[in-house]
Amino acid sequence: MKAEDLLRRYLEQRREMGETELVLDGLSVEEVMKLVGIKRGKGAPLERARPIVREAEGASAAGEPASAGWRDALRVSGAAPQPPRAEPIRSDDLPAARPARSAPFAEQVAAEPELPAPAAPLAPAPPGLVVGSAEMERVPPDIAAAVDLDQLAELIRRCTRCDLYKTAINAVPGEGSPHADFMCVGEAPGAQEDATGRPFYGQAGQLLTKILQAVNLSREEVFILNVLKHRPPGNRNPLPDEVSACRPYLVRQVHLVAPKVILALGTFAAQSLLETKLSIGKLRGSVHRYHGIPVIVTYHPAALLRNPAWKRPTWEDVQLARRILDSASA
Ligand code: URA
Ligand code: URA
Repeated sequence: MKAEDLLRRYLEQRREMGETELVLDGLSVEEVMKLVGIKRGKGAPLERARPIVREAEGASAAGEPASAGWRDALRVSGAAPQPPRAEPIRSDDLPAARPARSAPFAEQVAAEPELPAPAAPLAPAPPGLVVGSAEMERVPPDIAAAVDLDQLAELIRRCTRCDLYKTAINAVPGEGSPHADFMCVGEAPGAQEDATGRPFYGQAGQLLTKILQAVNLSREEVFILNVLKHRPPGNRNPLPDEVSACRPYLVRQVHLVAPKVILALGTFAAQSLLETKLSIGKLRGSVHRYHGIPVIVTYHPAALLRNPAWKRPTWEDVQLARRILDSASA
């Protein structure tokens, strides 16, 4: 991708998030300087770049290109987004988890530099989209007849409603407390989930566990599931037909668990659940309804691994979901 396109895409993402400050990566210093009209030279260009990122100590060893120190500085600060990826990322695309980086989620958020203060986190959230019970009519009788999650999981394991079962190793029906008050909905199993049959099992899953812990929820007390129950080959995007084929399971799971709040993780889960094409930036911050249950939308944990700047908005979203849970339980 050309430097201008990368920069434009990045700026659009940031604006969508309501961000006003920048951390740039995936572009060399020279490219960015050219883009913003800074001429090559000594002293002045670096002075211009400095307010954006701190330089890493000792990173500008003789002979290294300027961009190396600049990117290292970002990585050292913990603020570096991964280079932009064209493909959606699931946990299995990512390198193995590094236990050393296991600060609690709230601390990770607090440690993110270069971020504006959260915007009025306690303001009441406006109502959003409503997706409702007309869907019930589309649930086939065998799925509607499943009396509990175990029966439903059995149907899911034998499911041939779309072709994904042919390439998947295991179905991933979902797991957690059968009467959880808090439900997390992801996109689809990745390789590790496919291998184990368990949702959010890879690195994104570990981050999800921390995000939940940050609002005093354990994985065991919530229910975690995906829109799709079988892995799309190579983690390709789910097809509309696959989403439709799988939807009755989701509807039945939501009815059986009857959570007090649903957290939709990422663009795909949010758009599938809420039957909308609206961007995640537009969907965040409102309280939508799915079969009467409040739905909060946030970034996918895999996206946070790529772009730590999304941790703070995610933290706000999860706190909003927690407040809804608390007020529903009060
Ligand atoms: N990403 C998802 O959306 N779901 C999983 O289960 C794992 C990664
Ligand atoms: N993948 C998703 O499913 N959602 C995001 O927001 C980013 C990556």
